[in-house]
Amino acid sequence: MTDGAPLLEVANLRVGFPTRTGMTEAVRGVSFTLGREKLGIVGESGSGKSMTGRSILRLVPPPGRVAADRLAFNGEDLLAASERRMRDIRGRRIAMVMQDPKYSLNPVMTVGRQIAEAYRVHSRAGAAEARRRALEMLAAVRIRDPERVYDRYPHEVSGGMGQRIMIAMMLIPDPDLLIADEPTSALDVTVQMQVLAILDDLCSRRGMGMIFVSHDLNLVASFCDRILIMYAGRVVESCRASELHAARHPYTRGLLASLPRLDGTGGDLPVLSRDPAWAASGPMDGVDG
Ligand SMILES: Nc1ncnc2c1ncn2[C@@H]1O[C@H](COP(=O)(O)OP(=O)(O)OP(=O)(O)O)[C@@H](O)[C@H]1O
Ligand SMILES: [Mg+2]
Repeated sequence: MTDGAPLLEVANLRVGFPTRTGMTEAVRGVSFTLGREKLGIVGESGSGKSMTGRSILRLVPPPGRVAADRLAFNGEDLLAASERRMRDIRGRRIAMVMQDPKYSLNPVMTVGRQIAEAYRVHSRAGAAEARRRALEMLAAVRIRDPERVYDRYPHEVSGGMGQRIMIAMMLIPDPDLLIADEPTSALDVTVQMQVLAILDDLCSRRGMGMIFVSHDLNLVASFCDRILIMYAGRVVESCRASELHAARHPYTRGLLASLPRLDGTGGDLPVLSRDPAWAASGPMDGVDG
């Protein structure tokens, strides 16, 4: 660990999948650094958001290949770390809420026990203490009857509850960095706001850094400090959330123009046009770089 190093450094990250016809490039040279802040990643389906998040934890599914000029957490080279070291980092230091929470939960273990185990692995707490902490965490993600939900199996909970259970499980070891991939997409608006408030509170109170992946430009703009816009495996624009309205890249401008207006004055929604040149060009830095 190096003093003064940013929480996360990513330089020229590339992710490829070998196919019969050659390599499919899912991520094509993504670079950014992250401090103890909330970084939003937006972009259309298939633009490489999830693969960017997963490569940080070396969880790109095989036969995917990850390469980077630099991929470092607190100054430590993640690409050079042993698998044993990565297991230590995953969960305890960097946690990830996957896009499909139900697939990440063990189907034959009650959700409460899974959260308690996640706590015990890293804290060596006793069973009673772990159970108490797990119940607290379920309550913290606004699950109304934690005692009852504790004893349920993953197939017995709704999609929205599954997302909150995953968030509880990822936050219980107190990570320094949380990668949240569409963590609130299955939640209704009020619960979504409550869960975001919990995440926001953890970031500011504990100084946790966060990467928040979403399709929802409005949500990211109001929740995050900084935004990366991805298109076809590249970052086409990066800006402060507060400067998003001044974004210059035509893809970002197209996304902004296609947001529906609440007052209904927007008329027909414009169709997003695309230019093959966007996939070839480098990032366009926002107003503050
Ligand atoms: N197992 C795989 N084999 C081959 N290619 C893959 C595989 N998984 C992902 N890809 C490729 O990686 C690209 C990026 O995928 P990724 O999951 O990162 O997109 P995303 O931005 O998260 O999309 P979404 O918004 O739909 O979640 C896809 O377009 C796809 O071509
Ligand atoms: Mg995804």
